[in-house]
Amino acid sequence: MKAGVVGIGRALPDKVVTNADFEARGLDTTDDWIVRRTGIRERHHLEPEDQAGALATEAAREALADAGLGADELDHIIVTTITPDWITPGLAPRVADDLGVGAGAVDLNGACAGFVYALDHASALIEAGRASAVLVVSCDILSRITDFEDRSTAVLFGDGAGAAILTGGEFARGVAAAELGSDYQVDQLNAPIGGFLGMNGRSVYTNAVDRMAQATRAVLEREGLTVDDLDLFVAHQANQRILDATAAQLGVPAEKLVSNVDRVANTSSASIPLALRDAESDGRLEPGMLVGLAAFGAGYVWGATVIGWKEDRA
Ligand code: ACO
Repeated sequence: MKAGVVGIGRALPDKVVTNADFEARGLDTTDDWIVRRTGIRERHHLEPEDQAGALATEAAREALADAGLGADELDHIIVTTITPDWITPGLAPRVADDLGVGAGAVDLNGACAGFVYALDHASALIEAGRASAVLVVSCDILSRITDFEDRSTAVLFGDGAGAAILTGGEFARGVAAAELGSDYQVDQLNAPIGGFLGMNGRSVYTNAVDRMAQATRAVLEREGLTVDDLDLFVAHQANQRILDATAAQLGVPAEKLVSNVDRVANTSSASIPLALRDAESDGRLEPGMLVGLAAFGAGYVWGATVIGWKEDRA
């Protein structure tokens, strides 16, 4: 028995904030600087009165519809987030309630690597026979922990939610066990309780590139694959330079590198499912493709896996 991804969904807040909006607000920055250094052109921001839980549920509903699955068929829900609506309860019980089910529901804080960790946990539950259908939602509202007076971070982040449905079956590839790792570097990247995200940008940059590349190489080797076997590579959408440098280190050609960072900026754990969903709707991602995923975030924590996209269930 393997676990496979059979549905994907997304939700973005309506409000779009462009680089020009930051200039207009008086932040000492320019569209040219932001685009050259990060590739980001715009991001979505949730209104302060709106709830992350509602956004997470919207993404979950789209993923369920995409999978052709009823919410009552879910037996486990994992929501990854660093920005829940409450310190407790988490977002997952709220999503379960919105969907009208009482399935097991738990939040996971894996920072920007949360989606890869949750895929791994969900797959393990399915492979062990403890669940047959698992919903993973990755939802982050980074505007809540962004200092909009600090130009070095204000322009980098956005809000969004992405969701995936995993079920069990005899898939050709399924979801490979992830290569995961951690290295406690709280001084380099953190958000204190009640405070803003801060980081040493250079350290984050080099660690993100090296760790994502190392983990990808490791999972490919374990699976008996090479980079050439991948149809697409979807890494955490921190910024375009990190994506390009990671792809270059691995030898992934530009046409296989997925990026939507220009439209959504860095949405933390939501970034990979949002990129997968966009790649599918852009016609770049098709059933049966082999996709490499890699993520890196605060901790540091990181992970990489390989998935067969929406494979036929034998
Ligand atoms: N507009 C204009 N100038 C700016 C801005 C801005 N928005 N932000 C910083 N600058 C200035 C700095 O003040 C500095 O000026 P100075 O030379 O007069 O001191 C100059 O630009 C260069 O700053 P650096 O920080 O050296 O710029 P760098 O080329 O390293 O790019 C960046 C900064 C984009 C943050 C880069 O370090 C990076 O990509 N780091 C990765 C961090 C990241 O993406 N983190 C996301 C969270 S973690 C994660 O998702 C894994």
